[in-house]
Amino acid sequence: PIIMTQTKFTHQDDLKYPYEERALQFGDGVYEVIRIYNGTYYLLDEHVDRLFRSTEAIKINLSLTKGEMKNLLLELLERNNMETDGKVYLQISRGSAPRDHVFPIDVPANIYAYVQDLPRNLVNLENGVGTITQRDIRWENCYIKSLNLLPNVLAKQEAKENGCYEAILHKDGLVTECSSSNVYMVREGKIYTHPATNNILHGCVRMRVEKFSHDLNLPFIEEGFFVEDISMADELFLSSSTSEIMPIIKVDNIQIGDGKPGKITRLLQETYEKDIK
Ligand code: PDD
Repeated sequence: PIIMTQTKFTHQDDLKYPYEERALQFGDGVYEVIRIYNGTYYLLDEHVDRLFRSTEAIKINLSLTKGEMKNLLLELLERNNMETDGKVYLQISRGSAPRDHVFPIDVPANIYAYVQDLPRNLVNLENGVGTITQRDIRWENCYIKSLNLLPNVLAKQEAKENGCYEAILHKDGLVTECSSSNVYMVREGKIYTHPATNNILHGCVRMRVEKFSHDLNLPFIEEGFFVEDISMADELFLSSSTSEIMPIIKVDNIQIGDGKPGKITRLLQETYEKDIK
């Protein structure tokens, strides 16, 4: 068949992508972003566990075991002679089949992954970043690392257009997480963050932040805080595989603390630094 692409017409065989691919047409798939330091995965088991939770949640049947998936990901680094800091993007869709909301039968999942260099964001990690607040308009299953990222994309773009690094999302004032990271408030020596319910992504770095807090004897309290609490915060920070543990020094027009990364954030950053060595 002849296909219209952009404003031209092309034969189907000349297209560079499978146009009836469920990730493209329905966002029907899940993904992971895994950090690499010095050519070695950081938190690989945690990411693969979450990947399998995501595929199970949306009923994608993988013909691979977790062990096989890990071996493939390790081989990907070897074949690319990966020795620097970087990331792997891994995506799994329900497959390519004639467009129908109903799942296709006997169609294999489409899996791909690629490696990219990603230097650490040392300037922002040192100085901290600004954020804005935005309503969390996402669905009720944010624990699934779904390809449907339009609300996240729009929130992050709004942050960017306001000269900020991230958007802090809230449901009726209750802070859930950021557009592509988890978020924490420090008050009187205690760390507060939204509990790991269906309303947030259960971040792999968040799991480390919880462990670091216990190791450092810092109370880690899984209790959501409100946008209106932010003005009374001593410190604020966010976490993700690409952002690491990132100090937040501004929210909308409110300066956090003295406008510099706080003591507890620094302590957690130092612990992270040792963890990735
Ligand atoms: N995002 N919350 C959301 C909505 C995310 O998209 C992410 C990660 C996180 C942090 O998860 P982790 O600590 O496992 O990286 C929290 C990745 C980096 C991305 O979409 O690029």
